[in-house]
Amino acid sequence: MSFVVVEKTDRIAWVTLNRPEKLNALNNQVLQDLEQTFATLEEDPEVGVIIVTGAGEKAFVAGADISELKSLDTAGARTQALRGQAVLQRIESMPKPVIAAVNGFALGGGCELALACHIRIASENARFGLPEVSLGIIPGYGGTQRLPRLVGKGVALDMILSGDMVGAADALRMGLVSRVVALADLKAAAEKLARTILTRGPLALRHAIAAVNEGMEMPQDRGLQYEAALFGLLAASQDMQEGMGAFLEKRPAAFKGL
Ligand code: COA
Repeated sequence: MSFVVVEKTDRIAWVTLNRPEKLNALNNQVLQDLEQTFATLEEDPEVGVIIVTGAGEKAFVAGADISELKSLDTAGARTQALRGQAVLQRIESMPKPVIAAVNGFALGGGCELALACHIRIASENARFGLPEVSLGIIPGYGGTQRLPRLVGKGVALDMILSGDMVGAADALRMGLVSRVVALADLKAAAEKLARTILTRGPLALRHAIAAVNEGMEMPQDRGLQYEAALFGLLAASQDMQEGMGAFLEKRPAAFKGL
């Protein structure tokens, strides 16, 4: 049985981490299932937006599986970090928007999973943290790299060095999430956002993700060049003709992703 459940409805794929008895902790099987799931969804022409969430009302993901980490030696721990990083990197570089619907604890690898998604929506009960230093380790699935890029070095180091959790309101204030809603409304809010995104040009979405992801790793002048190159590529697309034509004709666009 897979620890990752996929439900597809009308171009949205819900990816639910399903190991609630362990608060959806990321063991190696979950990582493998996640990797396989995203590889499949990337190629699935019926899917335009992906929403990641956790089973149950308590946790999104409470971290990497501590029982698996405990027995690792130096080489094994490094390999484990690279493995987790690779799976999350795959999610971050998906050409389709990935939304994290954070429904409870997002700790350690769970916080890192949320950080790898393109957009984070949290329920009011969500709690974020990188508590690794309390276990004598550091975040290993990208937390030391993505968190400072998202919220700034000072706030990131506060979270990483204290290991303290922050609630949804603080996460919103610091830019760790972009929206907070009541837990009962989380699914609907994520779906509403996904539906909005689905009305946009798929090629534009793909290039927007690339421009932001790749551009963040470049000096700004090179990032601007890259942005201009992608902007140029879109000028050759049917989607651009359709989007602008629809605007001028005062009708909704019917994008084909071509
Ligand atoms: N790895 C492995 N198992 C985990 C886990 C993790 N990261 N997080 C939770 N679990 C397991 C618990 O061991 C427990 O299993 P058990 O019922 O077999 O004993 C089950 O999930 C429920 O967790 P529990 O701790 O009883 O729930 P709680 O409500 O008392 O506390 C947390 C919730 C999230 C505060 C607590 O589980 C926690 O601190 N988890 C670890 C967080 C962490 O350090 N993550 C970073 C890992 S690198």
